[in-house]
Amino acid sequence: MEYKIALLPGDGIGPEVAKQAVNVLESVGKAFGHTFTFEEGLVGAIAIDKTGNPLPDETIKICLRGDAVLFGAIGDPKYDTNPDAKVRPEQGLLKLRKSLGLYTNVRPVKAYPTLLDKSPLKRNRIEGADMLIYRELTGGIYFGEKHLSEDGKQASDLCSYSEEEISRIARMAFEAAKLRRKKVTLVDKANVLETSRLWRRVVTKIAKEEYPQIELDFLFVDNAAMQMILDPRQFDVILTENMFGDIISDEASVIGGSIGLLASASIGDEHGLFEPIHGSYPQAKGKNIANPIASILSAALLLDYLGLNEEGNAVREAVDIALANGVVTSDLDEHSTYGTKAVGDYISVLIQSAEELVVNLNHQNISLGQSTII
Ligand code: IPM
Ligand code: MG
Repeated sequence: MEYKIALLPGDGIGPEVAKQAVNVLESVGKAFGHTFTFEEGLVGAIAIDKTGNPLPDETIKICLRGDAVLFGAIGDPKYDTNPDAKVRPEQGLLKLRKSLGLYTNVRPVKAYPTLLDKSPLKRNRIEGADMLIYRELTGGIYFGEKHLSEDGKQASDLCSYSEEEISRIARMAFEAAKLRRKKVTLVDKANVLETSRLWRRVVTKIAKEEYPQIELDFLFVDNAAMQMILDPRQFDVILTENMFGDIISDEASVIGGSIGLLASASIGDEHGLFEPIHGSYPQAKGKNIANPIASILSAALLLDYLGLNEEGNAVREAVDIALANGVVTSDLDEHSTYGTKAVGDYISVLIQSAEELVVNLNHQNISLGQSTII
């Protein structure tokens, strides 16, 4: 088959890690007989530098006509340190999420058996941890009305949710739980926030009426943050709103040993975007030290989204082998001499000999609504 991928490398280490994901997709193409073509678009700080706009219209068009979007990273320190900047790279990503209707963000987190000792958490707490975080991505405080008083002394951000915005992601989370350990934990702040109480009512009703086989439990976000460290194995599918999901998913990323391993899928009814969660890491830019695995695993999620589960599994399998053989960047092994490119090349070569990979071990299913991620 032929697939058209919109490629948005973005800022910082985005281009170098996305390049490895592209190489991996090309290897998948060779091994499985597909053609991937890439159409590149500008986004983030580089787009501001070149066009004055963090998300030029042309980039949106490229995304709309692609079968899926592969995203690198955005962000630049020159904006982080300037609270008065009117145009910011992050606006590009937020507008892209909204323009493509990507209301569900899925972040898989697991403790890799070969990396248990890399995690800052004790091995006996994290061994076997395996969860999916379903984060709402186009609503809440990120997109509510913003206000800054004329004298600059008062500001507000509105957090707003509708029943429809909650129910569509809730169903995706329940569908995912069906294929796993059949548990959904709703993370909210229902003891304080009206929006959280709405989430509870809507999610409880859907659970009762449509998913009686799924266990639903609730955690306040402050307690959830603590439980994530104390006992991450209790989580199967976490369902939460935009801001809480942003925070809790960075926290969860340390379980795996490095944020450099965490991939994500952002999906809606018509489009899918795949990106590592690690951000632009400007200190590492151009040094060939960034971990390409989160980007490569994002490409694996992209393959699942296209319905290419066997291909996605081959990528995950190759990543597992690289990790097991110590072919990793220095975030995972301080003595490692492998750079971004060497790790990417190793994984690409493994995939090209895909018939030798024992395709799939115990990867869990992830439902993305229209397709299944394994
Ligand atoms: C993420 C990032 C973004 C977010 C930023 C870059 C706008 O932190 O994808 O988690 O807050 O959603
Ligand atoms: Mg974040």
